[in-house]
Amino acid sequence: MKKFFAMLIAAIMILSAFAALAENGTLKLCTNVAFPPYEFYGEGDEPTGIDIEIAKAICAKLGYDLEIVDIEFAQCIPGVQSGKYDFSAAGMTVTEERKEMVQFTDTYATGIQVVIVPEACEFESIDDFVEANGTVKIGAQMATTGDLYTTWDYEDEGKGTVDRYATGAAAVQALLAGKVDCVVIDNEPAKNFVAQNEGLKILESAYAVEDYAMAFPKDSAIYADFNAALAELIADGTVQGIIDQFIPAE
Ligand code: ARG
Repeated sequence: MKKFFAMLIAAIMILSAFAALAENGTLKLCTNVAFPPYEFYGEGDEPTGIDIEIAKAICAKLGYDLEIVDIEFAQCIPGVQSGKYDFSAAGMTVTEERKEMVQFTDTYATGIQVVIVPEACEFESIDDFVEANGTVKIGAQMATTGDLYTTWDYEDEGKGTVDRYATGAAAVQALLAGKVDCVVIDNEPAKNFVAQNEGLKILESAYAVEDYAMAFPKDSAIYADFNAALAELIADGTVQGIIDQFIPAE
């Protein structure tokens, strides 16, 4: 009888340890699931992509469940900053301005801002549009670096206008409809959009090279553990394995 109780107590202790692990809880990730191959709806309409799978691997390592919340990209930094979400993984570029608002993990990928134009376009850069027409109409996803940089370089300089769309795909539709001359967006999503739609191409001259990282509230209690787990997954090749899965070598 004594032995039975001892075993029962041991079993209860083990079970509650597991419960504590699951309770360790759920991390709320905010992202904009319209940015292939970093985040998009895959099979069974489940969010997947490089960011999602890296976040899942980190959560599995640390014993957290992951809840993915699909919101506008423009809301990701405010949402993290206010603590509404535990973090954001959204193909997000590290910039000095954003560093004032959130803290970034180690970087795990590189992005390049590229220019999408109609296939028949003979210009080689955005400046060529300005030279030929005196102005340029640029499309971008709202609050992305593509929006910010072109706003500074063209709109603020009186050289053109920037139309801001909720998603990159919507900006690309505006380009196909002739509402804008070009779209500035990250290279991997650009390749996806050009592959999915006929009559578009990417200009060879890149616009800017940047680093991607995940964003946390400045006072986050889990940031240190999370970043340490990410660093381990970078070091052991897991992160590169995930990237290779979604960006096949050319
Ligand atoms: N890299 C760009 C930025 O940080 C665009 C990111 C857009 N991400 C997304 N999931 N829609 O501004």
